[in-house]
Amino acid sequence: MDEISLIDKEKAEQESDKPPSIIPQPAKPWLVAVIANVKGETALPMDGPADAGAEFDRKETIQAIQSAIESAGHKTVFLPADFNLPFSLRDAKPDICFNISEGLGGDGREAQVPALLEMLRIPYTASRVQANAVSLDKTMTKRVWRDLKLPIAAFQEFSSWDEPLEPGLNFPMFVKPAREGTGMGMDGAAIVHDEFELRQRVAWVITNYREPALVEEYLPGREFTVGLLGREGAGRYTLHPELYGEDGFHRFPLLEVDSSKSVTPGVYGHHAKTLTFEEAGVPQFICPARTDHQLAMKLQNLAIRAHKAIGALDVSRVDFRLDAQGRPRLLEINTLPGLTPGFSDLCVIGKADGLEYRDLILEILYLGASRFGMLNQVERQAQVWDFFSYDQVFKEREKVIVR
Ligand SMILES: Nc1ncnc2c1ncn2[C@@H]1O[C@H](COP(=O)(O)OP(=O)(O)O)[C@@H](O)[C@H]1O
Ligand SMILES: [Mg+2]
Repeated sequence: MDEISLIDKEKAEQESDKPPSIIPQPAKPWLVAVIANVKGETALPMDGPADAGAEFDRKETIQAIQSAIESAGHKTVFLPADFNLPFSLRDAKPDICFNISEGLGGDGREAQVPALLEMLRIPYTASRVQANAVSLDKTMTKRVWRDLKLPIAAFQEFSSWDEPLEPGLNFPMFVKPAREGTGMGMDGAAIVHDEFELRQRVAWVITNYREPALVEEYLPGREFTVGLLGREGAGRYTLHPELYGEDGFHRFPLLEVDSSKSVTPGVYGHHAKTLTFEEAGVPQFICPARTDHQLAMKLQNLAIRAHKAIGALDVSRVDFRLDAQGRPRLLEINTLPGLTPGFSDLCVIGKADGLEYRDLILEILYLGASRFGMLNQVERQAQVWDFFSYDQVFKEREKVIVR
């Protein structure tokens, strides 16, 4: 039995109950467009770095997302996030898009597809334009967090290799491209021990990635990543209200990444991130991490504050390291965390938490859909999506697109 008829049945069973069921119910099955960049299919710029496209997804991931969505009674279509996307959206006319696209170059590539969807007034999942642009920019993210007094390592951004080094930064330091992900540009050589090494590495990052280099104090402690799902009132908008706490967030168990014996010892870098669990040199992943309850709660609460601080929505993954004194420091936030089944950190965390892949995908979809009033029985959350109504979206879109 598919999810929609299941919901109908539950509704019928509960018709006499008071208060009425709060399980969200779509008025009709949706056509969901999964939008992504596929490894080997999306063309890459000729002059990009060697690891360009590292964040693109595999076909199997897209198929797994489609199957999860279809298992709930919806239809799906895959639309590549390339130059044709405006036209394929016009042709497909999806009700909502499940966005996992990385975008194609530029200073806010992960925000490109959300920006296009907002222009065309098409509903979509996960964070909006600004949060996706800010989270891609690790320096900007840290400035926002610093403003809110959230704990981060001291840092400086370099736009050229010979900028004066600010006083108060202590070696060793860590150098990374300011606007990449998936460990791009990060291996043992990212750890620098003196000013000469620092300037060399900064120059390499700037030349290779054509973007600023972010230099941070090196954090020698344990590394954790924290998955987040939900937002205020999330329980009212999803198929699994029981997942969410009073503040609307689901607290996943921490995942510890132990890179001490990995291909890139001490750094969860690009090479380490491409290895499967069976391959030599893969880091050790421990979920739930062996920590005391206090540290787990501290990291979860910091992750939620960090997520809210940049205006992220519905899903994210926040990376931490402990400093030499064992104090947690925020590294970065991923507003479009990888969703490769059985492989991506968030999927591993979900599984350890008893949340099946299908349910993870459907929670993200329904949280997104609720922002556009696409679930009946549920009031619209005006503060999250303030200027669209579902009917209006379609009226406007017909005017714009069908011409
Ligand atoms: N300041 C730092 N100190 C120590 N290790 C770091 C630091 N910054 C990054 N790393 C290491 O590099 C990895 C990737 O860095 P991160 O900022 O999370 O970028 P990405 O977006 O590529 O995941 C981290 O998981 C961590 O192992
Ligand atoms: Mg990271």
